[in-house]
Amino acid sequence: MTTEYTITIEPIGREVTCREDQTILDACLRAGVWVPHSCTHGTCATCKAEVLEGEVDQGEASSFALMDFERDEGKTLLCVCKPRSDVVIEADIDADEDIPVHPVEDYTGTLLSMEEVALDTRRLLIELDRDMTFNAGQYMALHVPGQGELTRTYSMANIPTEPRVLEFQIRRTPGGLATDGWIFKDLAVGDAITLSGPYGRFVLRTDRREPAVLIAGGTGLAPIAAMIRHALEGELEEVGHLTLYQGARTRQWMYDVDRFKALEAQYPDRFTYRPCLSEEEAEGFATGMVTDVLNADHENLKGHIGYVCGPPAMVEASLKTLMLKRLFPRDIYKEEFLDMSAAATGVRSPLIKR
Ligand SMILES: Cc1cc2nc3c(=O)[nH]c(=O)nc-3n(C[C@H](O)[C@H](O)[C@H](O)COP(=O)(O)OP(=O)(O)OC[C@H]3O[C@@H](n4cnc5c(N)ncnc54)[C@H](O)[C@@H]3O)c2cc1C
Ligand code: FES
Repeated sequence: MTTEYTITIEPIGREVTCREDQTILDACLRAGVWVPHSCTHGTCATCKAEVLEGEVDQGEASSFALMDFERDEGKTLLCVCKPRSDVVIEADIDADEDIPVHPVEDYTGTLLSMEEVALDTRRLLIELDRDMTFNAGQYMALHVPGQGELTRTYSMANIPTEPRVLEFQIRRTPGGLATDGWIFKDLAVGDAITLSGPYGRFVLRTDRREPAVLIAGGTGLAPIAAMIRHALEGELEEVGHLTLYQGARTRQWMYDVDRFKALEAQYPDRFTYRPCLSEEEAEGFATGMVTDVLNADHENLKGHIGYVCGPPAMVEASLKTLMLKRLFPRDIYKEEFLDMSAAATGVRSPLIKR
């Protein structure tokens, strides 16, 4: 029989039950208790918490995300640690945030379609066995077949009014277990896929009225597409004007241009589209990195908010640019598509609060 322990989460005083073979993050999210998280595999340090009482197994926490002295101080990464007794933890929970919490659940899906949308980039439509509630911009963990318990996280590009068919936009990572070894290798339409979610807090902030710049690099477009569609098609008039800066190296890496042009034509007062190519000049595209184009477009961005998603280096460059344009860190929401290489290199931006 599997032993279960009680986890008390301070400062909110909530109690959840956690199996000895379950991570504390998983137990909290399944019980509908939100605690900060991002990568869910011990590399980003977003879920760092303090163990006030009790014993935990630290699991596969990267030595960069959880330094030795932090372990000695009683810190832990909730996404990889498992209880060895009843535990009291103190997590960095901002009680003021007014975002609905949708408990994480397991789903079985069927791959409805798989389309090449750009070089090494696929759009997957997965039909779930039942509807799911989530916030626009959240992500799912997909189980990678043949690799034990291995999961990889992918953001949903569909919107909450599409609760049954999930859209994913996935870039191939050479040598990657999930992409090269499965999604771009032998995954086929009709296959069953097991997945869990929804995760994350990189979501459309319906409480913010300011105009927003949204910066997307590569498949970092997925959650940002969900937020834009949710605001426009959901007729959330209270959300301010949205400007999308979509970056790619060349035209062959760029996708969904017609989709966003159509939204811009349909909602000219609410949405502006700026596709940018950094290594090619082409009609209808700005030339330069997204940050260069943003720089040239705005003297300053006081009074705006920002959303940024994509590879870590692009996220860091965008944060720097937005801060130079007078945005405060509290006005910038971001999601880094950290992969397992970060576990070995410890790539961490000093601009990103952990
Ligand atoms: C919140 C979140 C949302 C995401 N959403 C998306 C999305 O919508 N679309 C998308 O395309 N991607 C997304 N990603 C990235 C995605 O989760 C995967 O990281 C990516 O697809 C690579 O997975 P993989 O299994 O193919 O590669 P992996 O097997 O994880 O390998 C990735 C790289 O790390 C190296 N590596 C592997 N293990 C180690 C190790 N132990 N030490 C050092 N190096 C190692 C590999 O050689 C390779 O270069 C998201 C990531 C996060 C955190
Ligand atoms: S969510 Fe735990 S280290 Fe990233």
